[in-house]
Amino acid sequence: PDGLRVLGIESSCDETGVALVETRGEQVPKLLAQALHSQIAMHRNYGGVVPELASRDHIRRVLPLTEQVLQQAGCRLAAVDVIAYTKGPGLAGALLVGAGVACALAAALDKPVLGVHHLEGHLLSPFLSADPPQFPFVALLVSGGHTQLMRVDGVGRYALLGETIDDAAGEAFDKSAKLLGLPYPGGPVLAQLAEGGDPQAFALPRPLLRGGNLDFSFAGLKTAVWTQAQRLGPQLERHKADLAASTQAAIVDVLVRKSLLALQQTGLQRLVVAGGVGANQMLRRQLNAACGDAGIRVHYPELALCTDNGAMIALAAAMRLQAGLQPPTKDWSFDVKPR
Ligand code: KG4
Ligand code: ZN
Repeated sequence: PDGLRVLGIESSCDETGVALVETRGEQVPKLLAQALHSQIAMHRNYGGVVPELASRDHIRRVLPLTEQVLQQAGCRLAAVDVIAYTKGPGLAGALLVGAGVACALAAALDKPVLGVHHLEGHLLSPFLSADPPQFPFVALLVSGGHTQLMRVDGVGRYALLGETIDDAAGEAFDKSAKLLGLPYPGGPVLAQLAEGGDPQAFALPRPLLRGGNLDFSFAGLKTAVWTQAQRLGPQLERHKADLAASTQAAIVDVLVRKSLLALQQTGLQRLVVAGGVGANQMLRRQLNAACGDAGIRVHYPELALCTDNGAMIALAAAMRLQAGLQPPTKDWSFDVKPR
């Protein structure tokens, strides 16, 4: 379908995102407008996301953001063809806000709705970059809740190659940051501190690297960081940047080595990185270096589209429609899948 306008609503965690895309035949759908509100400042005082506060804030933000997007795109609400929302995974209450608003709007306008898997949004987000990938590719999906390697042969054609058996990569960043006394959200703060530290100052574990295994495990890293912090005691402050740098190096090292292994095992020549940790500059530098040597192209989403946003949800919905995978329905009795 050409010229189909898809409104996407993301509300799975601590960002309210809304965006409008338009399909263009076989080409990647065009992003017409997007708006985002981050709740980071609100949750910072609590050291993490407070689910109830997240839900309430999504309620406050979602309609104003929708109006903003439509205005920016010069599009009337009635001219939207399909309304998409994040169906999961995420916080149940937060997901219900996006799903409820999407289905209520759709019912009022007599338009179809489409629930999107949050990770598929992340996975397809690099298609909105200036240098979009081509299928097939290996995807490294690294967010706050998930760490997966996938073989991707097309929209909806995903084969899991490996995933974390405990903590996600983003979780490893966030939990280590907390142990270092850094404010929420830990990942980017730890990464920034790490830029001024020595990544080899502390030896930290890099588990599951043997035997061609493509699974990940980051729970032991957290324990090792805790042990180092305890050992340092009052000296921690002086060695904080070094410990941050060593932690980041351990996470990045494993992600890079497993990605290369997945490329080797599949024989594919293209890597796509997506999810919040994909914003990490050390990860990008090391992947670019390692893949450059091996003649492999690496694709990333625009920096602003690495973390949660509405554009990736609208895009994933539009690409699924283009691929004829998921007919949108006028069944507005929504449900969400937190897990
Ligand atoms: O994809 P995302 O926005 O939300 C989930 O779906 O989980 O990812 C958020 C995660 C958090 O763990 C955050 O700390 C991490 O991505 N993150 C980073 C960076 N920016 C965000 N981790 C390391 N370095 C960064 N620059
Ligand atoms: Zn996400």
